[in-house]
Amino acid sequence: MVVVGAGTMGAGIAYSAALAGHTVNVVEQNQKFLDEGMVRIGDNLNRSLAKGNLTNEQASSIKGQIHPTLDYAKACADADVAIEAVYEDEPTKGKVFQALDKSCPKKSILASNTSSISITKLASNTRRPERVVGLHFFNPVPVMKLVEVIRGERTSADTLKDAEGFVQTMGKTIVHSADRTGFIVNRSLMLFINESARLLDEKVATPQDIDKAFVLGANHPMGPLQLADFIGIDIVVDVLKVLEKDYGEKFTPAQSLQSLVNKKRLGRKTKGGFYDY
Ligand code: CAA
Repeated sequence: MVVVGAGTMGAGIAYSAALAGHTVNVVEQNQKFLDEGMVRIGDNLNRSLAKGNLTNEQASSIKGQIHPTLDYAKACADADVAIEAVYEDEPTKGKVFQALDKSCPKKSILASNTSSISITKLASNTRRPERVVGLHFFNPVPVMKLVEVIRGERTSADTLKDAEGFVQTMGKTIVHSADRTGFIVNRSLMLFINESARLLDEKVATPQDIDKAFVLGANHPMGPLQLADFIGIDIVVDVLKVLEKDYGEKFTPAQSLQSLVNKKRLGRKTKGGFYDY
């Protein structure tokens, strides 16, 4: 299989697919991003080693199944499935789909890990819209059991069946969503995060109390502002803006989210967001 994009999601998908026994070719747009992606995959391996979930031999065998490259033609030559996990931007994803369509065999499934963009629109960048499907994984991919499967207007029944079979080899559980912006989880989750940021903007409560309220009052593993830091404030704001276009101002990013992006405090990855790390 092929994963395009070796950011948090791409690296997590590549690692989880290799763990499930797949050979994975990872494609990036330049050597620096590819090297950084391989470090992320190495972090996942090290975490499993440290927890005693993998032996050294298993870790080196998984590492051997993952092949980084900048060359689409080389990566895609034998691909059964290619998953695009690049930046959440429609033109960028469109170009990746054009490249995958050009390089992958006709039978290959082309999937997007988009969290909000229409699968039908992405599929229009290819000559095989019937082989295009949405497979939306969750962060951290090795831990989160869910994959949202999204059928575009022209996705065929065979493609759905093949894609679901592939996802099941990774031990994930599937839910189906219509191709409506945000699908199931993000449409609801982003509204929740946004409203929690508004609680802060309106000085209803401190960040600590907002988070504590949901951890202790609703049994969430982390509070909404902690989760925003975990996902990345820039990603939260980008997804909110896509949702805002379709569903209106309830999704307009809260002032505190926008101001964190302006200050480049993007959450854990920049060591600061709502909290310092
Ligand atoms: N990568 C890989 N594995 C990780 C990890 C990471 N970043 N963080 C934790 N883990 C693993 C640990 O190794 C551990 O595994 P084992 O059970 O095999 O030992 C397990 O997760 C639990 O970890 P910890 O005990 O260290 O930490 P925790 O109990 O605090 O859990 C958490 C950490 C799993 C991240 C948990 O806080 C959680 O589930 N948070 C909510 C995550 C969430 O909601 N994700 C969805 C985001 S929305 C999204 O992804 C959609 C989108 O498009 C934006």
